[in-house]
Amino acid sequence: MVDQAHRLRQLAQQWQQRQSRRIIAITSGKGGVGKTNIATNLALALHGNGYTVTLLDADLGLANVDVLLGISPPYTLHQFVSGQCSLADVVYPAYGINIIAGGSGLEELAALPENRLLHLFHDAARIESDFFIIDTGAGISTKVTSLALAAQEVILVTTPEPTSLTDTYALIKVLIRKNKNLSLHLIINRANSKEALQITTNFCRVVQDFLSVSMNYLGYIPEDRSVRKAVSCQRPLLLAYPSAPAAERLRTIAIALSDDAQPKAGGIGWSGFLGRLRALFQ
Ligand SMILES: Nc1ncnc2c1ncn2[C@@H]1O[C@H](COP(=O)(O)OP(=O)(O)O)[C@@H](O)[C@H]1O
Ligand SMILES: [Mg+2]
Repeated sequence: MVDQAHRLRQLAQQWQQRQSRRIIAITSGKGGVGKTNIATNLALALHGNGYTVTLLDADLGLANVDVLLGISPPYTLHQFVSGQCSLADVVYPAYGINIIAGGSGLEELAALPENRLLHLFHDAARIESDFFIIDTGAGISTKVTSLALAAQEVILVTTPEPTSLTDTYALIKVLIRKNKNLSLHLIINRANSKEALQITTNFCRVVQDFLSVSMNYLGYIPEDRSVRKAVSCQRPLLLAYPSAPAAERLRTIAIALSDDAQPKAGGIGWSGFLGRLRALFQ
């Protein structure tokens, strides 16, 4: 009789081969720097470029992708993990992308018995997307860093403020200590071109020199009143104000991201991500 752990590994391997997708966590050292706006609009920009995208709202404390998009998904991962609904119920299609509300479901994975996990992985493997974008919380707590570490790639969002930069530095240090092969991207939000240039030369050099980490700079997004206006009317910026400067930069960033060479770790698929996440939370 094949034991369950072995079967689990086999299935995970098969699913990994089927899904060589990019799983990207968006995170930051400091809160309120624009992660959710970037995650949602980046997801829409990638969709606009012909990719299939799933957006996972995994900010356990302040989940608000639904608020930004003016939607109310009826189910969260919590209900899926606790067996109250199927994954198809949790995947909420809106604006051409799939949205999954994380709730407390991601944390609950760790405590799940192996047989329940098999079913869950099986279901998860059915979500086929070119990009899985994960909107996480901020900071260096295990809850946040586990999400980033379970993904293959991490987009760090910072503003030019010194406090945001020092918190970003601290976060990079924590992430790299746990996985030095993590692919790190950088987006500078609420900045002008001069500030962005300063950060890419000074900050990135410090990170390179002291932490031996080279980040892939994706671009900057200017301070733009349209962002706040889009938030207020609960419509995605890219659709409400497509020609706003911030929207234009976000589309450029989406191209830079999809053009970037494949991540170091190779494809892991969504079920692979869940498996890694489970191991990290345990
Ligand atoms: N480029 C920008 N220009 C102007 N305001 C912005 C910009 N990016 C973010 N904001 C403002 O900052 C607020 C916080 O953004 P949000 O995406 O919720 O941050 P986080 O997810 O990091 O907490 C938004 O409601 C928005 O009003
Ligand atoms: Mg947020």
